[in-house]
Order: sequence, then structure tokens, then C-alpha cells
Amino acid sequence: MHHFSYHGSNLHCEDVDLTEIAGLYGSPTYVYSAATITDNVTRLQASLSGLDLKICYAMKANSSLALLRLFSQLGTGFDLVSGGEIRRVLAAGADVKSSVFAGVGKSEAEIELALQNEVFAFHVESEPELIRINHVAGRLGVVAPIAIRINPDVDAKTHAKITTGKSDNKFGIPMSVAAAGYEAAAKLPNIRVAGVQMHIGSQLTSIGPFREAVEKVVPFVAELQKAHDLDYFSIGGGIGIIYEDALASGSQDWWDGFSDEDRPLTPESYGAVLQPLLAPLGIKVLLEPGRFLVGNAGVMLSRIEYLKRGASKNFLVVDAAMNDLARPSMYDSYHEIVPVERDTSRAAIVTDVVGPICETGDCFAKSREIQSVGEGELVAFMSAGAYGFTMASNYNTRGRAAEVLVKGSAFELVHQRETFEQQIAGESIPAFLA
Ligand code: LLP
Repeated sequence: MHHFSYHGSNLHCEDVDLTEIAGLYGSPTYVYSAATITDNVTRLQASLSGLDLKICYAMKANSSLALLRLFSQLGTGFDLVSGGEIRRVLAAGADVKSSVFAGVGKSEAEIELALQNEVFAFHVESEPELIRINHVAGRLGVVAPIAIRINPDVDAKTHAKITTGKSDNKFGIPMSVAAAGYEAAAKLPNIRVAGVQMHIGSQLTSIGPFREAVEKVVPFVAELQKAHDLDYFSIGGGIGIIYEDALASGSQDWWDGFSDEDRPLTPESYGAVLQPLLAPLGIKVLLEPGRFLVGNAGVMLSRIEYLKRGASKNFLVVDAAMNDLARPSMYDSYHEIVPVERDTSRAAIVTDVVGPICETGDCFAKSREIQSVGEGELVAFMSAGAYGFTMASNYNTRGRAAEVLVKGSAFELVHQRETFEQQIAGESIPAFLA
């Protein structure tokens, strides 16, 4: 469910007309719904309410300072993957103490920053990393809490570029050597064994792989508890969202239209299956959702530049491009594209939807049927709240989009559109070319 819907002919985010936002701030612009994020957090918490649950929002999905402040107010911690993300959490006035630090390539400086800010735990991906964390903690005279990331060798059945829990992925260490890893960790003077972590992949739309991975790793955690005073077991993120029928999925009726077996994965079905498997451990369960919390809480607004009628195809050229929303070009992913002003009297057209960037891959949709829209009119790319703005670049010297947060009838520009001057601020012409 989400809070994007038509009020009359115009698409709204909560109570705000998206034409008003585009009129004020231009396009492309990302618009986020605070109510949707709040509902998503509440639903996920409720679905696992029988557990001692801690949500660490995977902020790589969307690290807007405004959203980080909202998450902090909702009581979540963060799943961090860089020194930059640690600094963003601090800049948002939020707490690193309830956050975890993940990633396969933590630098000494990043480890130091995390320790200085008393991070809840490090999610360790390799032996050399463990040794480095011990070394930095020793230098600072502190003890670093850690969990080792177990790779359960489960097929998440998602896109190859976002699957992480197979033995040939770069992530985690195999179950077969994890026990030895924990023994080695426990012997290091500046390391405290605090938990176990796993994450099998992103955009999972069925419960099967989650169940398989949890069933595989729970006995290992139970065994480890005999030797160590564990604080928690993190089962990672990965809960998928609806992309194909994104607008309709905002309403309860859409969800009710499925039989229990056919309904896409929901937090309720996720909780119902996983809670009984996890409860017997009697320890804190950590979740690291990114996409589920913010994905359907954001859209990207874009204006039509031209409708180019080709010999065999139509091309709707919009003012957003692959530098603004990289997912379609990178993962062939689907984003529903809808008119911001709906006019049911207009015929539909079948068209490719493309951006202005000079490469064929700058394509959002192929042979898509949408309401006929003309130059200057607006469309919304649905389900763009996760891995949208955070993956944006300056390719073709395009400034990154503006971002707006809506709450009820209130809205505010929370990130100005990037200017040309900001883009070239760090550049210079060398003296030898003067
Ligand atoms: N925890 C770990 C250790 C992760 O690596 C990730 C995502 C998450 C949690 C959050 O996963 P989520 O709940 O969002 O599925 N750019 C890609 C997705 C990359 C995911 C990377 N890791 C996309 O646009 O689909």
C-alpha cells in the first residue's frame, strides 16, 4: 500500500497535487511520501511483533537527510556501508549507536569513524577485515562488537546483479568455515562476538528463499549461543516490492484481489513464516530492509520533451534519463509510467520511453502502452523511492534531480536540483596546460 493516487484527474502524493510540485521545482524531481514510509515501518514491526525486533534501515536505498531524520523519529537504526553514510546519519541528527556497519571493503578510516561513533556492530565479511577491525579498535583502546556475515548458499531467485547469498558471490563466509571464524574472532583482544548476520539478495518476491536461509542458519546460531553471549541474529533485507502494477497496489482492494497463495509477498506473510522459526533463539532479531521501506514511497516526475514518431516505432523522449534513474538500464527493471494528469478520453499509444542521453541504453521502457501525452506534460515513474536518487550520476553533465518530501498537505524541497557550478566545483585546469 502507498499514498499515491488520483484525486479527480490529477495524481497526488498524499494530499499534494504533483503538478504543483513540478510547477514549483521543475523536473525531473523525486517526490517521497512520509506517510507511506511510516506505514511501511509500522507494518513490518507489527508483522514480527512477537520478537525482540530491531530495524536497521538499509540507507543505500535512499540516503536523503530528510528521510534519515524521519527514520530516526520512527525509531529505526541504519544499515551503513561507508564512511559517507556514517557522516550522513550524523548530519541528519540521527544515531550511529543503533546502526550496523556492513560491506566487503571497509577502510581503516571508516572503521575508526564507526568506532568513534560507537556503532552497534560491524558485519564482518572476511578474516583480513576482522584482523583490521581488531587492530584499529586496539589503537583506539576500545572493543569492537562484531557479527560474521554467513553466506548460506541459497538461491534468492532474483536478478543476478542483486543476488548475494550464493557461494560464488563475493559476500560473507561459508557456513562450513564460520565456526572457525567465530573461534578466531573470540581470541582477538579487541573484538567482542555480538551476533550473526546473513543477507541473501534483494527484491525477493516469494518467501521460499527466506525460509530456506533462516532454516539453514538458525541451528548454527543456536550452537554458537552455547559458547558466546550473542546479542542478535540479523537476517538482512531483501523484501521485494510491486513494480508491475505499482499504482493500483496503493489500494487495499488490489491486495484483496488475490487468493492467499497468489498474493505477492507481504510483511504479514513474511512475519508469519519467519517469526516461529526465529522466536526459539530468544535473542534480538535484526532486519535490514531498504527497498521495502522506501521503494513504493517515491516517484520520479518527468516532463515530455518530444513524441518522436519513428518509421517502425514511437519514442517518447522525457527530460529524465538513465543518470537520474539507472535501474532500467542497469537491471532491465520495470517501472510503471503513468500520466500525472489523467484523461481517459485520450487514446493510448504504444511507445518506447527514452531519455536524452546519447546511448541506446538510455531507455526506461520498450513498446509500453500508455495514455497519449504531449510535449510539456508530466509523467510519474512509480516505485522510484529505492535505488533511484542514490544511484544517480552526472553522466552527460546533467545535474542530479531535485527531491521533495510530502507529509499530508505539507511539502518541502529537501534537496535542490544540482547546478552546473556544483558539478565542476572540484575541477581545475592544470598549470602545464595554461
Ligand atoms: N543488507 C545488505 C547486507 C545488503 O547488501 C542490502 C542490499 C540490504 C540489506 C538491503 O536490501 P533491500 O532490502 O533493499 O533489498 N541497486 C539494486 C539493489 C542493490 C541491493 C544491495 N544490497 C537495485 O536497484 O535493485
